[in-house]
Amino acid sequence: MLRTHTCGELRKKHIGKHVTLCGWIDTRRDHGNLIFLDVRDRWGKTQLVFDSEVSRQLHRDAEKLRPEFVIRVGGVVGKRPAGTANPKLNTGEIEVRVNEMEVLNASETPPFEILDESNVSEEIRLKYRYLDLRRPSMLRRLEIRSQVVQVAREYFKEHDFIEVETPILTKSTPEGARDFLVPSRLSQGTFYALPQSPQLFKQMLMVSGVDRYFQLARCFRDEDLRADRQPEHTQIDVEMSFVTEDDVISVIEGLLVRVVKAVCGVSLKPPLQRLSYLDAVDRYGTDAPDIRFGLELVDVTSILERCELKIFRDVIASKGMIKGINVRGRDFSRQELDGLIVKAKELGAQGLAWLKVTTRGFESPIAKFLAESEQDELRRAFCSEAGDTIFLLGGEWRTASTVLGALRSHLAKDLKLVKTKDPALLWVVNFPLFEFSEAEKRLESLHHPFTAPQDADVGLLDKEPLRVRARAYDIILNGTEIGGGSIRIHREEVQKKVFGVLGISDQEAEEKFGFLLEALRYGAPPHGGIALGLDRLCANLLGVDTIRDVIAFPKTQKGTCLMTEAPSKVYPEQLKELFLQVKT
Ligand code: AMO
Repeated sequence: MLRTHTCGELRKKHIGKHVTLCGWIDTRRDHGNLIFLDVRDRWGKTQLVFDSEVSRQLHRDAEKLRPEFVIRVGGVVGKRPAGTANPKLNTGEIEVRVNEMEVLNASETPPFEILDESNVSEEIRLKYRYLDLRRPSMLRRLEIRSQVVQVAREYFKEHDFIEVETPILTKSTPEGARDFLVPSRLSQGTFYALPQSPQLFKQMLMVSGVDRYFQLARCFRDEDLRADRQPEHTQIDVEMSFVTEDDVISVIEGLLVRVVKAVCGVSLKPPLQRLSYLDAVDRYGTDAPDIRFGLELVDVTSILERCELKIFRDVIASKGMIKGINVRGRDFSRQELDGLIVKAKELGAQGLAWLKVTTRGFESPIAKFLAESEQDELRRAFCSEAGDTIFLLGGEWRTASTVLGALRSHLAKDLKLVKTKDPALLWVVNFPLFEFSEAEKRLESLHHPFTAPQDADVGLLDKEPLRVRARAYDIILNGTEIGGGSIRIHREEVQKKVFGVLGISDQEAEEKFGFLLEALRYGAPPHGGIALGLDRLCANLLGVDTIRDVIAFPKTQKGTCLMTEAPSKVYPEQLKELFLQVKT
């Protein structure tokens, strides 16, 4: 090794030792005869002292050192003079009095300082990602991500799982996104698809008798990107044979206990809370609720059935409902209220009514349309007190719930309602198997087409598919879906039936999933599994706003890599070899 210690390692016990350190120049302070330089590496920083009385030459050389130069220094560890210790640094009690130095490499002036607190634009950070990652907080995130992976690998090993790699060049696996395609040179005019997940391969592995599979799997999805979506992400992917929902759930709870302990130091106490899909949407307006704060949705339809307000009566008459939330102890200015009304409309509501609760009753443009008894009942339904503000909106169940749910999240963020640092986890279960896609005008799987229907609902597949519940479960962390899975269909006839409900013809099923249908005919065991989104899991546990911050080399919202400038044009010869032509 070029060094004897790292820059975060030296303590009082090393005083008097001759050591060699390597790292990057961090900060410098010139005090005439003495130059103080901090040298930094992944483990920390150490103060170096260049004393002109020890060596004029070294002192002169140190004057030439600039931030981010890479150096190797030898020297003796000394105690810092009284009053100059830095309690914020692990190495804050010592310094290294340098007696030899080698510049291993110079550095241009970096486009930003390598500091944790930096307000550099994300664009610049991504272009110079290698410098951005040099920031201690970013290196720490990479370390924690690696720790999560280690914990997972150990956990699965202990529980008799085996790690199997599945292909990256493969055939389409539908997970609701567009495929990334890779043209084949050897078979003209054909394409591989990059896997949206290893879903079908892990099912094949169950047919093979692997029984307990896991993989840290790369998944590729061409979809609209957001803070928690990347074109390629990593899943902790799991599949098990001869299991029920409870078995998969309890294996994952065991893993999460370890991960949360390792990252946050918090002890989870399984079993985690479970909420049905319908309850989640009804109470929180989303199937991925954040339960770290209240602000639950309340159905007040029955109270307002006969109220004088025509808008509400009309909504109710057309089988809609009136739902509301009560923001405790918060008065809103007129401007804030108008802003929230605009927001609700943007989210798809027809409008938003508000009621300020005062000691003299409701203060609101709609108060005069509410009878005394209705006002009393509303107050009771929301358990409201003077100083609260109630928001009401009407609409069909799903719209009213989801708009109010989005408003709930918005208010929680704005009003900083999340008071705890502890992670809040819960399972959402009993999802419908299908949903109607307005855009496609047909039924789609809520998870994926290989999800098993609940036994009691199999009979409804033909006539009332929208009422069929799935054997699926999602795991939610702080209001983000960090994982989802299900018990799968393991019989060919059920799989064909589900394809049929989805409008996939026998011929199309054979073309796309022929190998799956065939495998199901060769003794496929009952099986199920789950995939956790590693990026989302880490981002949430670390409390960062975007998964880009826990991915070493992420893409922008437009799917580009600012460092390598991918995607990029290719040479005409390359296209020719692939039998491709680009039309612009
Ligand atoms: P699903 O599609 O729900 O299930 O994905 C599992 C988890 O992966 C994460 N995730 C993403 N993370 C970042 N960027 C993305 N674009 C992205 N898409 C998904 C989420 C999600 O919960 N094969 C099934 C799992 C199974 O049934 O076993 C699947 O992939 O955290």
